[in-house]
Amino acid sequence: MLVIKGRVFYRGRLEPLSIGIDEGRIVAVRKILRGDEEVDHGDALVLPGCIDMHVHLREPGLTEKEDFASGTRSAALGGVTTVFDMPNTRPPVSTRPDLEEKAARVRGRAAVDYGLYAAPRSGSAVPRLLGADAFKVYMAESTGSLQIGTEELEEVLAASAEADRLVVVHAEDAGKFTTPSTRGLEGHHMARPKESEVSALQLLSKVRGEARLHVAHVTCVEALDAIPEGATTEASPHHLLLDFRRDLKGFGKVNPPLRPPEDRDALWRAFVDGRIDVVASDHAPHTQEEKEGPFDEVPSGVPGVATAFPLLLRKVKAGALTLERLVRTMADRPAEILGLPKGLIEVGRDADLVVVDPRRTETVRAKRIRYKCGWTPFEGMDACFPQTVYLRGDAVVEHGETAAENLGRPITAAKR
Ligand code: DOR
Ligand code: ZN
Repeated sequence: MLVIKGRVFYRGRLEPLSIGIDEGRIVAVRKILRGDEEVDHGDALVLPGCIDMHVHLREPGLTEKEDFASGTRSAALGGVTTVFDMPNTRPPVSTRPDLEEKAARVRGRAAVDYGLYAAPRSGSAVPRLLGADAFKVYMAESTGSLQIGTEELEEVLAASAEADRLVVVHAEDAGKFTTPSTRGLEGHHMARPKESEVSALQLLSKVRGEARLHVAHVTCVEALDAIPEGATTEASPHHLLLDFRRDLKGFGKVNPPLRPPEDRDALWRAFVDGRIDVVASDHAPHTQEEKEGPFDEVPSGVPGVATAFPLLLRKVKAGALTLERLVRTMADRPAEILGLPKGLIEVGRDADLVVVDPRRTETVRAKRIRYKCGWTPFEGMDACFPQTVYLRGDAVVEHGETAAENLGRPITAAKR
């Protein structure tokens, strides 16, 4: 048995404890444990590994932006031990052969565990895509042009309910988009206004049937107020920490857009108050060259898988957020929503652990987090990066650097 010691986040509080691990799972959590191998992390925090249920790792077809190996390596550096990868690739994951090909292509190349989304474009596609771990639907155009009409949406939701599959929704209503004369990030916010989120959510409430829904990247409180009953909600670090006043130019262009500071503040308060189920990065890298182009042609999306947890842990240290809320939204709740034996330090769960000393603040530097795209919109911000990260008991990060690659498994293996 491997024993890992530290100040462990266990049942909602921090305590000096020992975690016993056997065959990748937690088998004991006690004050004192003896093992064949013991690693003492002193008074560093030991937290459950984060589950990022919204990343775009760009395989297949867009690997100049990111690939499975690079994206999952960055994930691990940021304390993320499970990612769920989106289907808007080239080709998109919309058919069974696409899904099978993707599963085969990424197998053995991930540094953390992973699930795969598929994007059914019609109700009849759903039964053929049940090999996917969850579904994604786009109600409006964004990278990849996977949007579907209301009729198809209704069909997909009904078929997903039948199959008891989670549907993650990109909720924007193109009917509310405008063509403002204002340019830049503020113009982008006006072009895809908050009302488009609210309107899409109202439509979703009408057509949802019995579908199990998760609403991705909510940007504002008005959208939170319009969430269909029983649906879970997600916010992204860029909407919680950035706004359109930042001088990011095309590097801050994302869908749904960055909002004004007032909306960012209100979203943050809602997050702190427990109105948001999940924080997910919506890691959506594009190359620097693409992001430097004329604003209107710049593709939307910002990377974030490696910075979500470190930035928010820094907020905990600053007293702006509780550790409990951070662990709940980045580990425990996503595990609940996705039905994974992860996300908590508890006997029987996978030994996915993040060891971090919150007294050690670092400045976010793109180089440090090793994105293939080479940039981050959070450059220069304070963050607390993990020193050690364990994936099912194996160290995948040590001394803040990659220690092992290729240990990630498909989540179907983890469910066992
Ligand atoms: O800004 C975005 N980028 N929004 C999306 O919905 C897709 C994503 C991407 O894949 O680039
Ligand atoms: Zn996304």
